[in-house]
Amino acid sequence: MRMVVLGLGYLGATHAACMAELGHEVLGIEVVAAKRAQLAAGDVPFYEPGLPELLKRNIDSGKLTISGSYGDAADFADVFFIAVGTPQKKGEYSADLQYVDAAVEELVPLLTRDALVLGKSTVPVGTAQRLADRADELAKDINVEIAWNPEFLREGFAIDDTLHPDRLVLGAFGGGAAEVLCREIYAPIIDAGTPFIVTDPATAELVKTSANAFLATKISFINAIAEVCDAAGADVKAIADAIGYDDRIGRRFLNAGLGFGGGCLPKDIRAFMARAGELGAAEALAFLREVDNVNMRRRTRMVEKAREMCNGSLVGKRICILGAAFKPESDDVRDSPALNVAGQIQLQGASVTVYDPKATANSKRLFPTLDYAESVVEACSKADAVLVLTEWREFVEIDPIELKKHVRHANVLDGRMCLDSGFWIASGWNYAA
Ligand code: UDX
Repeated sequence: MRMVVLGLGYLGATHAACMAELGHEVLGIEVVAAKRAQLAAGDVPFYEPGLPELLKRNIDSGKLTISGSYGDAADFADVFFIAVGTPQKKGEYSADLQYVDAAVEELVPLLTRDALVLGKSTVPVGTAQRLADRADELAKDINVEIAWNPEFLREGFAIDDTLHPDRLVLGAFGGGAAEVLCREIYAPIIDAGTPFIVTDPATAELVKTSANAFLATKISFINAIAEVCDAAGADVKAIADAIGYDDRIGRRFLNAGLGFGGGCLPKDIRAFMARAGELGAAEALAFLREVDNVNMRRRTRMVEKAREMCNGSLVGKRICILGAAFKPESDDVRDSPALNVAGQIQLQGASVTVYDPKATANSKRLFPTLDYAESVVEACSKADAVLVLTEWREFVEIDPIELKKHVRHANVLDGRMCLDSGFWIASGWNYAA
């Protein structure tokens, strides 16, 4: 089938390449010329394992083409995916929908045949209805159907999550072609037994928001337990293992530590709060706010623990931060807990050196005043404390005996509870987590 993907960021580039991989003819629309040129050369402007190869293969075979023109998009196909960003508004909790709105405003007046617009971007409940009303106003003697088909991909697993999702969700207004067309688009995925849930647009929008809110809640739950463990001298990791054996609870997303960051969970939970407030669901809002509060407290607590390790003051201390990406196998530093902690420690008078295997370039753009090193050893040289804030395999595999030779004081703070604490302690380190 021919289809268009509007917006070639993380979500759009992955979706476009994966749809081409399924055998469809795909036109990707990216309005930023520099990004377009980069992608057209098969060069992905962010780190996602496997995506450069997938993109290049499908561009070379002609199944995926890239353009910056909405005119090209309107001519090319009758199915359009909206995959543009919905960042947090500056100074507010709500989502900024200007790019989603612009996609509809620009595309629909150019359409000359009936069309289906499938939203993939994460949006507040009610957005599809609003866009459907607007599309009706903009459409010229044609029928433009709006439906929502949320995406659940994780960074680092984006291709697998798109081609082998846990479920497909479609929220459609009755009487349109959305379900039939989606069954055709996703035929290989549905035939493989993937659950396909067809519902109304408001429910589909809320499925996505609820999924992210639940994941955030699970992480904040275990981190709230970690606060109690901290006070009681108990082992939160053992608790997570023990409760995780219960199928109803499950062990995944129960890793206590520095908490969640990235381009999705933090902004989505805040957008959910803002929308819950607008809808008058005040109790739900208070619950979600606490999930966010627990998460943000982790960062402050990490700074306190670093200060405690440095005998009560960070002034003049050399602190090594290992990890800047919001999670391993990513170069994404949006709302990175690690960089947030690095910044706070620097503000308290320490000299901070950061090392990350993949995210240094992005970190430098966001936090140019921090020092950056090219290796673990360089970052740790003469350090008073080493903080492991992203659980990259490279850090898990550090030899503590060897690293001890390079630091001034053998203090290690394991912000992701990913190190072998017994080994580090036996190697002469003062270990805290
Ligand atoms: C998330 C959702 O998982 C995905 O379904 C949605 O589409 C987008 O948002 P992503 O942002 O790629 O995906 O990251 P994820 O793997 O969910 O991790 C989010 C954050 O939670 C990271 O900062 C990670 O370090 C943290 N985390 C995760 C924990 O602190 N503990 C855990 O047990 C798991």
